[in-house]
Amino acid sequence: MTCFSSTDESAHYGLSVCMLLSQYRDQLGWLEEGVDELGTGDATAIADVVRALPGLRVRSYDVSASSVGVARANIADRGVADRYTVELGDFFDQADSAGGPQASTVISNPPYIPAPDRDILMPELWGGVRGNDLVLQLLKAGYTNVVCALASYSDPEATVRTAQDLGYRVVNFLAMGLDFGPYSSEPKVAEHIRHLCREGHGWAGEDGYMVAVALVTRDPHLLGDRADQLLHSLQL
Ligand SMILES: C[S@@+](CC[C@H](N)C(=O)[O-])C[C@H]1O[C@@H](n2cnc3c(N)ncnc32)[C@H](O)[C@@H]1O
Repeated sequence: MTCFSSTDESAHYGLSVCMLLSQYRDQLGWLEEGVDELGTGDATAIADVVRALPGLRVRSYDVSASSVGVARANIADRGVADRYTVELGDFFDQADSAGGPQASTVISNPPYIPAPDRDILMPELWGGVRGNDLVLQLLKAGYTNVVCALASYSDPEATVRTAQDLGYRVVNFLAMGLDFGPYSSEPKVAEHIRHLCREGHGWAGEDGYMVAVALVTRDPHLLGDRADQLLHSLQL
Protein backbone atom coordinates (compact mmCIF):
# COMPACT_ATOMS: atom_id res chain seq x y z
CA MET A 1 0.00 0.00 0.00
CA THR A 2 1.15 3.55 -0.71
CA CYS A 3 0.04 6.97 0.41
CA PHE A 4 -1.84 9.31 -1.94
CA SER A 5 0.41 12.14 -3.11
CA SER A 6 -0.66 15.05 -5.30
CA THR A 7 0.60 18.39 -4.03
CA ASP A 8 -1.60 20.71 -6.14
CA GLU A 9 -4.78 18.71 -5.60
CA SER A 10 -4.26 18.48 -1.83
CA ALA A 11 -3.38 22.19 -1.59
CA HIS A 12 -6.55 23.15 -3.48
CA TYR A 13 -8.61 20.87 -1.21
CA GLY A 14 -7.06 22.37 1.95
CA LEU A 15 -7.41 26.00 0.85
CA SER A 16 -11.01 25.44 -0.28
CA VAL A 17 -11.99 23.71 2.97
CA CYS A 18 -10.36 26.55 4.95
CA MET A 19 -12.20 29.21 2.95
CA LEU A 20 -15.61 27.49 3.06
CA LEU A 21 -15.39 26.65 6.79
CA SER A 22 -14.34 30.24 7.53
CA GLN A 23 -16.94 31.92 5.36
CA TYR A 24 -19.85 29.79 6.66
CA ARG A 25 -18.51 29.35 10.22
CA ASP A 26 -21.70 30.41 12.04
CA GLN A 27 -24.07 28.32 9.91
CA LEU A 28 -21.94 25.14 9.85
CA GLY A 29 -21.53 25.03 13.64
CA TRP A 30 -18.13 23.30 13.49
CA LEU A 31 -16.85 25.08 16.61
CA GLU A 32 -19.34 23.08 18.67
CA GLU A 33 -19.33 19.75 16.82
CA GLY A 34 -16.12 19.54 14.81
CA VAL A 35 -16.21 17.90 11.39
CA ASP A 36 -15.72 14.35 10.06
CA GLU A 37 -13.39 13.56 7.16
CA LEU A 38 -13.46 10.72 4.63
CA GLY A 39 -9.93 9.95 3.43
CA THR A 40 -6.98 11.44 5.33
CA GLY A 41 -4.14 10.76 2.90
CA ASP A 42 -0.93 12.25 4.31
CA ALA A 43 -3.03 14.77 6.34
CA THR A 44 -0.84 17.79 5.52
CA ALA A 45 -3.55 19.87 3.83
CA ILE A 46 -6.11 19.57 6.61
CA ALA A 47 -3.51 19.72 9.40
CA ASP A 48 -2.67 23.22 8.11
CA VAL A 49 -6.39 24.08 8.13
CA VAL A 50 -6.70 22.87 11.73
CA ARG A 51 -3.71 25.08 12.63
CA ALA A 52 -5.26 28.06 10.84
CA LEU A 53 -8.73 27.74 12.41
CA PRO A 54 -8.59 27.78 16.23
CA GLY A 55 -11.22 25.50 17.75
CA LEU A 56 -11.63 23.28 14.69
CA ARG A 57 -11.60 19.53 15.47
CA VAL A 58 -11.45 16.92 12.69
CA ARG A 59 -12.18 13.17 13.03
CA SER A 60 -10.67 11.50 9.98
CA TYR A 61 -10.69 7.94 8.62
CA ASP A 62 -8.57 6.24 5.99
CA VAL A 63 -8.55 2.64 4.71
CA SER A 64 -4.83 2.75 3.88
CA ALA A 65 -2.64 1.66 6.81
CA SER A 66 0.46 3.32 5.35
CA SER A 67 -1.46 6.60 4.89
CA VAL A 68 -2.60 6.52 8.51
CA GLY A 69 1.01 6.08 9.68
CA VAL A 70 2.25 8.97 7.54
CA ALA A 71 -0.75 11.12 8.51
CA ARG A 72 -0.25 10.66 12.26
CA ALA A 73 3.42 11.67 11.95
CA ASN A 74 2.55 14.79 9.91
CA ILE A 75 -0.21 15.76 12.34
CA ALA A 76 2.17 15.41 15.28
CA ASP A 77 4.84 17.47 13.46
CA ARG A 78 2.34 20.29 12.99
CA GLY A 79 1.32 20.18 16.66
CA VAL A 80 -2.40 19.55 16.10
CA ALA A 81 -2.75 15.93 17.31
CA ASP A 82 -5.19 17.07 20.02
CA ARG A 83 -7.61 18.41 17.37
CA TYR A 84 -7.01 16.17 14.32
CA THR A 85 -7.49 12.44 14.93
CA VAL A 86 -7.11 9.65 12.38
CA GLU A 87 -8.53 6.14 12.57
CA LEU A 88 -7.69 3.25 10.27
CA GLY A 89 -10.82 1.87 8.61
CA ASP A 90 -13.65 2.37 6.18
CA PHE A 91 -15.32 5.72 6.85
CA PHE A 92 -18.78 4.27 6.23
CA ASP A 93 -18.28 1.33 8.65
CA GLN A 94 -17.16 3.74 11.37
CA ALA A 95 -20.17 6.00 10.80
CA ASP A 96 -22.51 2.96 10.91
CA SER A 97 -21.01 1.63 14.13
CA ALA A 98 -21.34 5.09 15.75
CA GLY A 99 -25.06 5.05 14.82
CA GLY A 100 -24.79 7.77 12.16
CA PRO A 101 -22.86 11.00 11.62
CA GLN A 102 -20.93 12.43 14.61
CA ALA A 103 -21.25 15.97 13.24
CA SER A 104 -23.40 18.02 10.85
CA THR A 105 -20.52 18.55 8.42
CA VAL A 106 -18.26 16.14 6.57
CA ILE A 107 -15.25 17.13 4.45
CA SER A 108 -13.58 14.99 1.80
CA ASN A 109 -11.28 14.84 -1.17
CA PRO A 110 -12.66 11.39 -1.93
CA PRO A 111 -11.31 8.67 -4.21
CA TYR A 112 -12.60 9.64 -7.68
CA ILE A 113 -10.47 7.75 -10.21
CA PRO A 114 -12.84 6.14 -12.72
CA ALA A 115 -11.85 2.76 -14.15
CA PRO A 116 -13.56 -0.45 -15.29
CA ASP A 117 -12.25 -2.20 -12.14
CA ARG A 118 -10.16 -1.66 -8.99
CA ASP A 119 -6.91 -2.91 -10.53
CA ILE A 120 -5.24 0.54 -10.81
CA LEU A 121 -2.05 2.21 -9.51
CA MET A 122 -3.54 2.87 -6.06
CA PRO A 123 -6.71 0.74 -5.67
CA GLU A 124 -7.85 2.86 -2.69
CA LEU A 125 -8.41 5.75 -5.12
CA TRP A 126 -10.90 3.83 -7.25
CA GLY A 127 -14.20 5.69 -7.40
CA GLY A 128 -16.13 3.05 -9.32
CA VAL A 129 -16.77 2.85 -13.06
CA ARG A 130 -17.77 6.53 -13.30
CA GLY A 131 -15.59 7.72 -10.43
CA ASN A 132 -18.38 9.10 -8.26
CA ASP A 133 -19.39 6.05 -6.18
CA LEU A 134 -17.92 7.35 -2.91
CA VAL A 135 -19.30 10.88 -3.37
CA LEU A 136 -22.75 9.42 -3.92
CA GLN A 137 -22.34 7.21 -0.82
CA LEU A 138 -21.25 10.26 1.18
CA LEU A 139 -24.32 12.21 0.04
CA LYS A 140 -26.48 9.34 1.37
CA ALA A 141 -24.68 9.15 4.74
CA GLY A 142 -27.00 11.57 6.53
CA TYR A 143 -24.89 14.73 6.89
CA THR A 144 -26.52 18.17 6.72
CA ASN A 145 -23.46 19.73 5.06
CA VAL A 146 -21.00 18.04 2.69
CA VAL A 147 -17.78 19.78 1.60
CA CYS A 148 -16.43 17.60 -1.15
CA ALA A 149 -14.15 17.61 -4.21
CA LEU A 150 -15.80 16.85 -7.55
CA ALA A 151 -13.68 16.04 -10.60
CA SER A 152 -14.85 17.09 -14.06
CA TYR A 153 -14.29 13.59 -15.51
CA SER A 154 -16.17 11.68 -12.78
CA ASP A 155 -19.74 12.33 -13.93
CA PRO A 156 -20.27 15.52 -11.88
CA GLU A 157 -23.62 16.23 -13.51
CA ALA A 158 -25.05 12.93 -12.21
CA THR A 159 -23.54 13.70 -8.80
CA VAL A 160 -25.13 17.17 -8.64
CA ARG A 161 -28.51 15.87 -9.81
CA THR A 162 -28.40 13.08 -7.19
CA ALA A 163 -27.51 15.66 -4.53
CA GLN A 164 -30.53 17.71 -5.59
CA ASP A 165 -32.78 14.62 -5.45
CA LEU A 166 -31.54 14.08 -1.88
CA GLY A 167 -32.49 17.65 -0.95
CA TYR A 168 -29.05 19.30 -1.16
CA ARG A 169 -28.26 22.71 -2.68
CA VAL A 170 -24.84 23.95 -3.83
CA VAL A 171 -24.03 26.88 -1.54
CA ASN A 172 -20.60 27.73 -2.97
CA PHE A 173 -17.48 26.17 -4.44
CA LEU A 174 -13.86 26.82 -5.47
CA ALA A 175 -12.77 25.43 -8.85
CA MET A 176 -9.28 24.97 -10.25
CA GLY A 177 -7.64 23.39 -13.30
CA LEU A 178 -5.25 20.50 -12.58
CA ASP A 179 -2.80 18.63 -14.80
CA PHE A 180 -3.33 14.89 -15.10
CA GLY A 181 -1.25 13.27 -12.36
CA PRO A 182 0.14 9.74 -12.06
CA TYR A 183 -3.22 8.23 -11.10
CA SER A 184 -5.34 9.73 -13.89
CA SER A 185 -2.68 9.36 -16.59
CA GLU A 186 -2.21 5.62 -16.03
CA PRO A 187 -3.04 4.37 -19.58
CA LYS A 188 -5.99 2.20 -18.53
CA VAL A 189 -7.50 5.12 -16.57
CA ALA A 190 -6.73 7.76 -19.22
CA GLU A 191 -8.48 5.69 -21.90
CA HIS A 192 -11.48 5.15 -19.62
CA ILE A 193 -11.69 8.92 -18.89
CA ARG A 194 -11.73 9.64 -22.64
CA HIS A 195 -14.49 7.05 -23.05
CA LEU A 196 -16.60 8.55 -20.23
CA CYS A 197 -16.23 12.07 -21.67
CA ARG A 198 -17.19 10.87 -25.17
CA GLU A 199 -20.29 9.24 -23.65
CA GLY A 200 -21.32 12.50 -21.95
CA HIS A 201 -20.37 11.54 -18.38
CA GLY A 202 -17.85 14.33 -17.79
CA TRP A 203 -15.30 16.72 -19.22
CA ALA A 204 -11.50 16.58 -19.60
CA GLY A 205 -8.89 18.33 -21.75
CA GLU A 206 -5.82 16.89 -23.47
CA ASP A 207 -3.57 17.47 -20.45
CA GLY A 208 -5.81 18.08 -17.54
CA TYR A 209 -9.19 18.47 -15.91
CA MET A 210 -11.09 20.65 -13.47
CA VAL A 211 -11.78 20.03 -9.79
CA ALA A 212 -14.23 21.96 -7.64
CA VAL A 213 -14.49 21.70 -3.87
CA ALA A 214 -18.15 22.42 -3.18
CA LEU A 215 -20.24 23.00 -0.07
CA VAL A 216 -23.67 21.40 -0.44
CA THR A 217 -26.28 21.67 2.27
CA ARG A 218 -29.74 20.67 3.42
CA ASP A 219 -29.78 23.49 5.99
CA PRO A 220 -32.57 25.98 5.15
CA HIS A 221 -30.56 28.77 6.85
CA LEU A 222 -27.76 28.46 4.28
CA LEU A 223 -29.14 30.25 1.25
CA GLY A 224 -28.52 30.03 -2.48
CA ASP A 225 -28.11 27.41 -5.16
CA ARG A 226 -25.07 27.53 -7.45
CA ALA A 227 -25.53 24.09 -9.04
CA ASP A 228 -25.50 25.44 -12.59
CA GLN A 229 -22.46 27.67 -11.93
CA LEU A 230 -20.65 24.66 -10.45
CA LEU A 231 -21.33 22.50 -13.51
CA HIS A 232 -20.26 25.33 -15.86
CA SER A 233 -16.98 25.69 -13.95
CA LEU A 234 -16.19 22.02 -14.61
CA GLN A 235 -16.65 22.14 -18.40
CA LEU A 236 -13.59 22.26 -20.64
C1 LIG B 1 -7.77 11.44 -3.03
S1 LIG B 1 -7.11 10.85 -1.52
C2 LIG B 1 -7.23 12.33 -0.52
C3 LIG B 1 -6.29 12.39 0.66
C4 LIG B 1 -6.21 13.74 1.37
N1 LIG B 1 -7.49 14.11 1.93
C5 LIG B 1 -5.71 14.82 0.43
O1 LIG B 1 -6.53 15.52 -0.18
O2 LIG B 1 -4.50 14.95 0.28
C6 LIG B 1 -8.43 9.82 -0.92
C7 LIG B 1 -8.09 9.02 0.33
O3 LIG B 1 -9.27 8.29 0.72
C8 LIG B 1 -8.88 7.02 1.25
N2 LIG B 1 -10.07 6.14 1.20
C9 LIG B 1 -10.56 5.46 0.15
N3 LIG B 1 -11.70 4.82 0.46
C10 LIG B 1 -11.95 5.11 1.77
C11 LIG B 1 -12.98 4.74 2.68
N4 LIG B 1 -14.01 3.95 2.32
N5 LIG B 1 -12.90 5.19 3.96
C12 LIG B 1 -11.86 5.99 4.36
N6 LIG B 1 -10.87 6.36 3.52
C13 LIG B 1 -10.90 5.95 2.26
C14 LIG B 1 -7.70 6.62 0.38
O4 LIG B 1 -6.88 5.66 0.99
C15 LIG B 1 -6.99 7.98 0.17
O5 LIG B 1 -5.99 8.20 1.16
